[in-house]
Amino acid sequence: MFFVIIRLMLTDQIRNLKNEAIGEILEAKDASEIENTRATFLGRSGKLNQLTKEIPNLALEEKKHLGQLINEVKINIESAIEQSLEKLNVKNFQNKWFDVTLPGIRPEQGHLHLITQAISEITNIFTELGFHRARYPEAEWDWYAFEGLNMSQNHPARDEWETFFIKDLDNKKYGKGVLTPHTSSGQLREMEKYSPPIRMLNIAKCYRRQSDMSHAPMFYQFEGLVVDKNINISHLKGTIDYFTKKYFGPDRKSRIRPFHFQFTEPSFEVDVTCLICHGKGCRTCKQGWMELGGSGMVHPTILKNAGIDPEKYTGFAFGWGVERVMMMKYGIPDIRLLFDGDLRFLKQF
Ligand code: DAH
Repeated sequence: MFFVIIRLMLTDQIRNLKNEAIGEILEAKDASEIENTRATFLGRSGKLNQLTKEIPNLALEEKKHLGQLINEVKINIESAIEQSLEKLNVKNFQNKWFDVTLPGIRPEQGHLHLITQAISEITNIFTELGFHRARYPEAEWDWYAFEGLNMSQNHPARDEWETFFIKDLDNKKYGKGVLTPHTSSGQLREMEKYSPPIRMLNIAKCYRRQSDMSHAPMFYQFEGLVVDKNINISHLKGTIDYFTKKYFGPDRKSRIRPFHFQFTEPSFEVDVTCLICHGKGCRTCKQGWMELGGSGMVHPTILKNAGIDPEKYTGFAFGWGVERVMMMKYGIPDIRLLFDGDLRFLKQF
């Protein structure tokens, strides 16, 4: 009888504890409050264990009964704790991430690489003058890269091009395979494909055995070619001026100086006033000028090689480096910055 009374008392107390614990858990505001409740009720010296101290003294029947009840209560409290924690987590998560009134987190936005930007800028400028964009093979035959442009195999001028020849690639008619060393190879291909009037802009990758602050083994050139009746040097100079003002800015000037290229006659080097001193002369330029690249009137032999009558047509051409014009525009000191992919540099543009 005595055991039964104790059992009933304990049963009541255990049930009360359970209700108390679950009440606290439901009211808890955060995970640490729930953990405190767990410790208070289920901890080693928690309230539930305090009650069970009496149990070993009871009769077997009572022990069994209460043991079972305590296990159930523990499971109930544990599952209430789990559910509450989960709810709190979801709430936290919602508060943090799904509050639709908060401004979103913008993903970082990239931009086109500088070279791609420059290529489209250059294309736009020449499109305004009626040029069309062309592309010709990067792996080219000697004929188009050299021989057909008046640069025979042993000509000393060819040393400057320091070519990558393609191993075991030889063509009876067109000679060895080469990685195109300049966009001028597009001149012959364009004239073979179209008859005058021609206004070509060929922008492409070029390859040469070179590597220093201003030269990379792979680089981009843009080549202009105009062939029509009565084309003369003033058309060339006008085109150069137009590009200079549009690309570098209205305050920059251009000039042409006599030079020599095998595929133009007469030939010129084109210069633009220096970015830093604007023509006065400083440490970075040659007496106020910076060299842009080559140009000239298309050599009659080149027209003939492409099947165009030099008595009827004349033309001009120019070939400049994309990286080079960019370096001159922004004052970039080292070409390798353009190929390194370093975001600290690229993000500035
Ligand atoms: N192909 C020459 C080079 O890579 C540049 C050049 C010079 C292109 C004169 C031309 C030209 O079209 O007329 O250095």
